Amino acid sequence: MDSGQLSCLGGGEFTARFEDAFAAAHGAQYGVAMNCAMSVLHASVIASGAGAGDEVLCDPVCVFGAMAVMYNNAVPVFVDVNPDTWNMNPDLIEAKITERTKAIIVTHVCGLAAEMDRIVEIAHRHDLIVIEDCAHAILGTYKGRSVGSWGDIGSFSFQASKQLGLGDGGMAVTQSEELAKELALHAGAPTFQSVAFGLHFNYRITEPIAAIGLAQLEVIGEYIEGLKRVAASYDEAVADCGWITPQSGPEGSDNTYHLWGGTFHGEAMGIKREDFARVLEEEGCGVGLGYTNMPAYRHPVIGERMGYGRGCPLDCPLYDGTGNQYPDGLCPEAEALFPKIMLAYTFVPEDAAAADAERLKRATERLG
Ligand SMILES: Cc1ncc(COP(=O)(O)O)c(C=O)c1O
Repeated sequence: MDSGQLSCLGGGEFTARFEDAFAAAHGAQYGVAMNCAMSVLHASVIASGAGAGDEVLCDPVCVFGAMAVMYNNAVPVFVDVNPDTWNMNPDLIEAKITERTKAIIVTHVCGLAAEMDRIVEIAHRHDLIVIEDCAHAILGTYKGRSVGSWGDIGSFSFQASKQLGLGDGGMAVTQSEELAKELALHAGAPTFQSVAFGLHFNYRITEPIAAIGLAQLEVIGEYIEGLKRVAASYDEAVADCGWITPQSGPEGSDNTYHLWGGTFHGEAMGIKREDFARVLEEEGCGVGLGYTNMPAYRHPVIGERMGYGRGCPLDCPLYDGTGNQYPDGLCPEAEALFPKIMLAYTFVPEDAAAADAERLKRATERLG
């Protein structure tokens, strides 16, 4: 604020410093800051080359990647998840690849890193760009390597609820100079440059937000340790309960816990979901049952095609793909998972989380 430079275009240095430091913290060469992660995802899909009628593989738990695909009039094609990790199941990817497929967007759901080695190997064998949606997984790692640095582009969110909350903001990281340059055209490149070389968006971050981000980076590691302790108190609360399993795996996958997730398996043991919900409420426990309650392709924006203003590409006679069919049973694991999802916020004071975890434990003990 003292410098009077509120924009990187006005000579401010903080945006570039934040980009460099954030990329380095994730083992990536280039960082491109933007005003939010939806902007990063949008620009990343553009950079992947996916346009009208092209297909992009997405996971069905979070809707954000699929929406970024639709921003480009491309078609989101859903790959089912692993029921333990809630992340994209690499075994199911190849069956969904067609000649129209341009990219894969992989979300590290709740902060648990997806199986990136297998996903990247399959994608690159088919010449597909991999975009990692790391909105939940800042500083997460898979097999010791940072999320965001496995794929071609990693997309991060600094929305208020995220581990590095700045009110709003986003960051792309990449190892590719070419992709970094392409993304930068949407990240508030000087106006002449961005309008002279194509139709680009203006998703510039502001200098004060970048400056706060730079300062927050210094303490984020410690903060995430706190989130892990909060998550551990929920893990402990359900350790003796035979019908709740914390979201987990695969081997080598770290979790930086944007949220703690558990799966409710009570129905199989005669414990009704509504009884569990009632007991949680009676105990005053903050753990939520269900997350949106529907896979991404059941959201009206996709399922009812609200996202396509003029019918293109889904009703386009030139699009003969089958990727736009979203019948019930498309992703059976995800559909079965949704009513069972349990979520606890981790960004609460540790003593409050410990008390809430105690309430969860009492609720499970009451139901046996
Ligand atoms: C997985 C995921 N991706 C992308 C986003 C979009 O982030 P932003 O609000 O920064 O645009 C969110 C926001 O909640 C998210 O949870």
